[in-house]
Amino acid sequence: MRIDVLTLFPSMFTPMNESMMWKARDIGTLDLRVRDIRDFTTDRHRTADDIPYGGGGGMIMKPDVLVRAIEETLDDAPAGTPVIYMSPQGRVFSHAIAQELAQHERLVILCGHYEGIDERVLELAVTDEISIGDYVLTGGELAAMVVMDAVVRLLPGVLGAEGAAERDSHADGVLEGPHYTRPTVFRGLVVPEVLQGGNHSAIEAWRREQALRRTWRNRPDLLMKAELSEDEKYLLAKFANEDTTR
Ligand code: ADE
Repeated sequence: MRIDVLTLFPSMFTPMNESMMWKARDIGTLDLRVRDIRDFTTDRHRTADDIPYGGGGGMIMKPDVLVRAIEETLDDAPAGTPVIYMSPQGRVFSHAIAQELAQHERLVILCGHYEGIDERVLELAVTDEISIGDYVLTGGELAAMVVMDAVVRLLPGVLGAEGAAERDSHADGVLEGPHYTRPTVFRGLVVPEVLQGGNHSAIEAWRREQALRRTWRNRPDLLMKAELSEDEKYLLAKFANEDTTR
């Protein structure tokens, strides 16, 4: 997958040189091109923003510069390539959106700064507006990295363990349960016995129950949409009677 990021702050993307993102680039799965929006300006001062019509504070990123940047970046991209503007006004990012974006050969991500961008850029050149949550960041760069990380880890070969992405929290509508490694006893806390044995179906059943319990406690809203068997619905009734203070 090729991802072009358009930003006023290219150096903010150094975390994309680490860990799994580095691996994705190393194995050729991710071709990340971070482009400086100022390279698409035409004046001596490399002006990318201007004062807002109607007054009010803050500066607005200029439509001519942004549309030129997007059009030149799209260049030979396949029809239907998403052009995503990171913004708190967008649809809220989720695992389902990450899966949808992971299907594309190319993505273009536009990072805003200052008060925002001229509305005509959205009308002319942006296909999708994405928010990473109901709070306001100073710019779209961190949000763009969140989206890229969540998308790229779904691409084949990026995660080591087979099926790791399928076991993710949110992949099947519930949160992941707890994990343990050695030692068996740590500060008096013991790894659950079922995990120490080799009974795989018992382990799977235990994991599912733990996942449902955690979802019940932390994100009950998710259970409204999750597909649950009759036995699992029965478990929910059991959780409702448990002490939730621990
Ligand atoms: N830019 C500023 N705030 C943002 C948010 N919550 N999500 C995505 N982009 C943003």
